[in-house]
Amino acid sequence: MNTGAIHLKDVGVRLGDTDVLQEISLDLNARTVAVIGENGSGKSTFARLLGGLVPRTSGELGILGIDPNRRAAELRRRIAVVFSNPDAQIIMPTVAEDVAFSLRADRLKAAELEARVAAAMERFGLAELAERASHDLSGGQKQLLALCGAFVRNPELVIADEPTAYLDARNARRVADHLFEDAGHRLVLVTHDLALAARCEQAVLFAGGRLVGVGEPGAVIERYEAVLAC
Ligand SMILES: Nc1ncnc2c1ncn2[C@@H]1O[C@H](COP(=O)(O)OP(=O)(O)OP(=O)(O)O)[C@@H](O)[C@H]1O
Ligand SMILES: [Mg+2]
Repeated sequence: MNTGAIHLKDVGVRLGDTDVLQEISLDLNARTVAVIGENGSGKSTFARLLGGLVPRTSGELGILGIDPNRRAAELRRRIAVVFSNPDAQIIMPTVAEDVAFSLRADRLKAAELEARVAAAMERFGLAELAERASHDLSGGQKQLLALCGAFVRNPELVIADEPTAYLDARNARRVADHLFEDAGHRLVLVTHDLALAARCEQAVLFAGGRLVGVGEPGAVIERYEAVLAC
């Protein structure tokens, strides 16, 4: 039976002829979880696996009690995935339309849709940019728009893969603050920013496609830093 909000037992992911993730067994229940490890260690593949974007080749997987291989549509409704590159996540011509697009599956009445979109734009500091062309926004504004589109759906779990990678310090802090804000969601945060990882309640460390550490972030980060120092 599933024992955590995120449950993996002996999970493997093979892409092409490469075993990208191997023998991952893990139960995560903390509200915020950092995923750390060197380049190519398997973090993004892990994030995509949890988001139902990459299928497992073997093992058992439950995300909020959902097996992504069986109930992908339900999983997509209940979670949100955010990447480093906001250009890949912005679809509609204007800021307001792009936020509204995230709610298309909910079939809301026009007034309710407008109210939800307005409240979300306000929360992410985008209200004054509502009618701006989304592709003309700066990188930081685009990432806030991508987050706004993710959060407007009130996801139960947000999976963010290096969401602050291309941002300056101020925008990185704003994006991080939104991710960490307790809005009733769980967070899985892939990051190379170890100070950000330290803000999580739990951390997991990957190396060579395997899980090599799980626990309190301080200890897991220390272990990772020891590896990096070699
Ligand atoms: N579609 C694919 N086919 C074959 N190999 C892949 C595929 N996607 C990823 N890999 C390989 O899997 C390994 C892990 O990649 P992944 O992107 O998960 O690493 P990462 O930890 O996110 O790295 P980074 O910190 O650089 O983002 C890499 O060696 C990569 O080349
Ligand atoms: Mg990656």
